[in-house]
Amino acid sequence: MTGKSAEHPQRLQHLLTLADLPQTTLLALLERAGEFLAPPGKPARRYDLLDGKTVANLFFEPSTRTRTSFELAARRLGAEVVTLDMAFSSTVKGETPLDTFHTLQAMNVDLFVVRHREAGVPQTLAQHALPQVHVVSAGEAHVSHPTQGLLDVFTIRRHKKKFDKLAVAIIGDVRHSRVARSAVQALHTLGTRDIRFAGPAELLPEDLDGEQFTNPDKALAGADVVMMLRIQKERMQAGLIPDEHEYFQRYGLDATRLKLARADAIVMHPGPMNRGVEIAAEVADGPQSVIREQVSNGVAVRMAVLATLMGT
Ligand code: CP
Repeated sequence: MTGKSAEHPQRLQHLLTLADLPQTTLLALLERAGEFLAPPGKPARRYDLLDGKTVANLFFEPSTRTRTSFELAARRLGAEVVTLDMAFSSTVKGETPLDTFHTLQAMNVDLFVVRHREAGVPQTLAQHALPQVHVVSAGEAHVSHPTQGLLDVFTIRRHKKKFDKLAVAIIGDVRHSRVARSAVQALHTLGTRDIRFAGPAELLPEDLDGEQFTNPDKALAGADVVMMLRIQKERMQAGLIPDEHEYFQRYGLDATRLKLARADAIVMHPGPMNRGVEIAAEVADGPQSVIREQVSNGVAVRMAVLATLMGT
């Protein structure tokens, strides 16, 4: 089985950001992901596209969804996968990410999936990659999470056809969110201009184009897509936000507040969720939620990225 698209995207060596990804390449990745999407309830299909290749997952920051879905994506494409357990790796003895990378590259790893809390680490590793080796960012500080951005627009596209007509509300800790940055880059590439950000003033972004609101109700009014974000306590100084109960009252999405959006609006969240802080369980598990669909789509999107980078 090939799973190969008739229309190949422009050849990519690494995927570190969506900022400079041409629209044709982005669309080709989404098309390819559609070919890999497993029908609900059916067993996942296996491919041999990456037979003989090795993928290494280097997650220097915690992850559930991204790490697991990259691992499943690589296995379903037929690759051998190594996932370093950082707590038991030589990282704890002081080995740098670059030395870890060189060590695994010397073992003939073909593609590295890298998450790091410091900006610039995936780029540094990519600069030291051998010509035949690929690097994919799985999350870089607050800067970029390209495969999350891809799976977010892939999910939106399955529900909403015209990106240039969409109103997208992104609510929560936008300032510290690499998810928001990559989603906005992908939405801009696909033609979405009506992007609204809402949250406490100190958690609104300084570097993103879009209307900003401290009242989430204004951002929600008539929105087609509502993307809720977790408060990234690990990326902020203590005391920057009110207590969780107060936060939920002021910014959290419950069923009443969701009624301000369009009746057919979809609700997204990259996970992990803090129920009762940024989102109520009734919304997270409700009929407008596509949160679990985002997770399923993430495997197909990552299969598309791995296969495309490896030129298969
Ligand atoms: N969305 C996301 O990046 O989740 P994880 O941190 O669990 O990978």
